[in-house]
Amino acid sequence: MGENMAHSPLVTYVSVLSLLSLCPPFVILLWYTMVHADGSVLQTANYLRDHGIQGLLQIWPKPTTTAWKIIAFYAAFEAALQLFLPGKRVEGPTSPAGNRPVYKANGLQAFAVTLVTYLGLWWFGIFNPVIVYDHLGEIFSALIFGSLIFCLFLYIKGHVAPSSTDSGSSGNIIIDFYWGMELYPRIGRNFDIKVFTNCRFGMMSWAVLSLTYCIKQYETYGRVADSMLVNTTLMLVYVTKFFWWEAGYWNTMDIAHDRAGFYICWGCLVWVPSVYTSPGMYLVNHPVNLGVQLALYILVAGILCIYINYDCDRQRQEFRRTNGKCLVWGKAPSKIVASYTTTSGETKTSLLLTSGWWGLSRHFHYVPEILAAFFWTVPALFSHFLPYFYVVFLTILLFDRAKRDDDRCRSKYGKYWKLYCEKVPYRIVPGLY
Ligand SMILES: NC(=O)c1ccc[n+]([C@@H]2O[C@H](COP(=O)([O-])OP(=O)(O)OC[C@H]3O[C@@H](n4cnc5c(N)ncnc54)[C@H](OP(=O)(O)O)[C@@H]3O)[C@@H](O)[C@H]2O)c1
Repeated sequence: MGENMAHSPLVTYVSVLSLLSLCPPFVILLWYTMVHADGSVLQTANYLRDHGIQGLLQIWPKPTTTAWKIIAFYAAFEAALQLFLPGKRVEGPTSPAGNRPVYKANGLQAFAVTLVTYLGLWWFGIFNPVIVYDHLGEIFSALIFGSLIFCLFLYIKGHVAPSSTDSGSSGNIIIDFYWGMELYPRIGRNFDIKVFTNCRFGMMSWAVLSLTYCIKQYETYGRVADSMLVNTTLMLVYVTKFFWWEAGYWNTMDIAHDRAGFYICWGCLVWVPSVYTSPGMYLVNHPVNLGVQLALYILVAGILCIYINYDCDRQRQEFRRTNGKCLVWGKAPSKIVASYTTTSGETKTSLLLTSGWWGLSRHFHYVPEILAAFFWTVPALFSHFLPYFYVVFLTILLFDRAKRDDDRCRSKYGKYWKLYCEKVPYRIVPGLY
């Protein structure tokens, strides 16, 4: 659990307790500001100044039956697709305890079926996505409470029925609840909980809600502004890229290192649908017109960033998959052969790529990730700050993540990581940081 104490214990406890208590009201205030306060932080701040906590409770929507029904149908549909759609058998990376989790790679199929079903329901007049937008506050409210209970379930399961040896307690109930107990919790043998929360519920909701915002604007104004089109297209390209590469995602920190607790699971069940989609939520009531030329420039820049981000991830994974026997930017890759010891005492080796994108800086892929988020937000132009909250949040998240990852890799690889840092001295931004 030491890896999760990347900061001093005091900073860790203060930040954990703050996040546990502040994230839920933040989600509601964000939704309220976007939907009912014209996207103006000032308007919401004035409201809170005048009405205090009582005012917050007044605007906090009660989870209604409609909200629960929408969530239950969506979750059951996604769980069924995850379980029953065909897909290739894929092995995840070797875990710290030396296990290799097995997955079914059917994310792209699930993504296609979800979008076709959602648009089909709308097209044939069976279910109007506008209902989702009109109940968004209640849905977020239900998600906030439902996901907290779900995290409690994960905590108890981690104690009484862990799915694998990649599990354990830090000895502190708050840290266990926040960071999680199990790395690969499952229901039965095949239903992987983190694939469900992170990919099939969280990331999928991002695409579904982006479409919802577009449809809401269309039904309200009779047309979709070019700003909304650019925003929705970029978000859909990003999520499509995610599902195209989903099996690769199973090798990343979220799945291979972060345990299933509040941080990752509540984050994916609540924070992704609300905060990650928020630039689109803002645009619904702000149909900004960019003009064809500007819209195209932003679109192309955004797609380029998403492509570079994808290519960084692809390069690392191709390099690891082929055991370094691949070409990186047309040349044999330069690498470090790093050995490490698993928690069960076995000695293993890993390869660290030191050329291509991974030779520019140790986490260069975060640069295009942040820029892509900027490009799908900038269609909102600059009348309000709030649409940019996600970009700011993402920047802080990824800078913190780069530090956590470096600390973890340093303790895993020791002198080999030191060598990597000497060869590739910058952490994120080449030449700067
Ligand atoms: N939008 C969001 O909220 C968000 C948040 C996080 C990440 N992301 C995106 O998700 C993707 C994955 O990022 P990630 O942060 O999860 O981590 P990642 O960079 O995919 O994985 C980090 C791991 O890669 C291995 N590694 C590090 N340096 C290496 C090198 N030079 N050669 C080979 N392997 C190396 C290490 O694991 P080993 O122990 O295997 O060596 C390290 O822990 C990125 O595209 C990122 O932008 C998005």
